[in-house]
Amino acid sequence: MYFEMGGSVFMNTKECIEGRRSIRKFTSQAVSEDVLKQIVTTASFAPSWKNTQVTRYIAVTDESVKNKIAEDIAPMWIGNTKIIQGTPVLLVVSMITGRSGFERDGSFSTSKGTHFQSFDAGIATEALCLAAYEQGLGTVIMGIFDEKKVAEAVSLPEGQEVAALIAIGYPDESPEAPKRKTAEDLLTFI
Ligand SMILES: Cc1cc2nc3c(=O)[nH]c(=O)nc-3n(C[C@H](O)[C@H](O)[C@H](O)COP(=O)(O)O)c2cc1C
Repeated sequence: MYFEMGGSVFMNTKECIEGRRSIRKFTSQAVSEDVLKQIVTTASFAPSWKNTQVTRYIAVTDESVKNKIAEDIAPMWIGNTKIIQGTPVLLVVSMITGRSGFERDGSFSTSKGTHFQSFDAGIATEALCLAAYEQGLGTVIMGIFDEKKVAEAVSLPEGQEVAALIAIGYPDESPEAPKRKTAEDLLTFI
C-alpha cells in the first residue's frame, strides 16, 4: 500500500523490497546532494559487525571522472560502461578494511577471515538502494569494474577498498522483475 505524507510517497517494506528493480537507464535529471545525504543517512541504520559501520560512499558527478571509470570498464563489460556514461551519479561504495570481522590486535575474529567487511557493505548497499527507491530513484549495483583504476580515479583514501559501484538516478525504464526462486527452492527445515 502506498500512502502520501508531507508531499512524500511511502510504501510498506514488502512493496519496497519486492518492487525495487535494477535500473540501467536514467533521465538527465540531477540528483541533489540533499537527497543523496538522506539516502546515505537511511543506509547508516543498516546493521554491521559490532556496529563498526565501515561502509563509505563517494558520489561522483564529475563527468571526466565518471567517463574515465566507464572507459576503464569497457574491456571487462561494455554494459557497465554504458550504464555509467548515462547515470547522473556514480556512487563508489568502499569499506574501511581491517575492522569488521577483526579483533583490535588485527587478527580475524572468526574462521571467515575478511568476509564480514564485504558482508556489511552488502547489507548497507541494499539498504541504500531501498532508500533510493522510496525517493523515486533507480539504482543498479555493479560488480564488474577495474578495482585498482576505480580507486585511483576517486583517490580512495588509504585503508579503504572498493566494495561495489552503484549507478543512481531517476529511472528512464521500468523493467519486469527477473524470475525468482521459490521458498521451496531456498528454504530447508530441519
Ligand atoms: C553483487 C552484485 C553485482 C552486480 N553486478 C552487476 C553489474 O556489474 N552490472 C549490472 O548491470 N548489474 C549487476 N547487478 C545487478 C543484478 O544483475 C540484478 O540485481 C539481478 O539481475 C536481479 O535483478 P533486480 O535487481 O532487478 O531484482 C549486480 C548485483 C549484485 C547484487
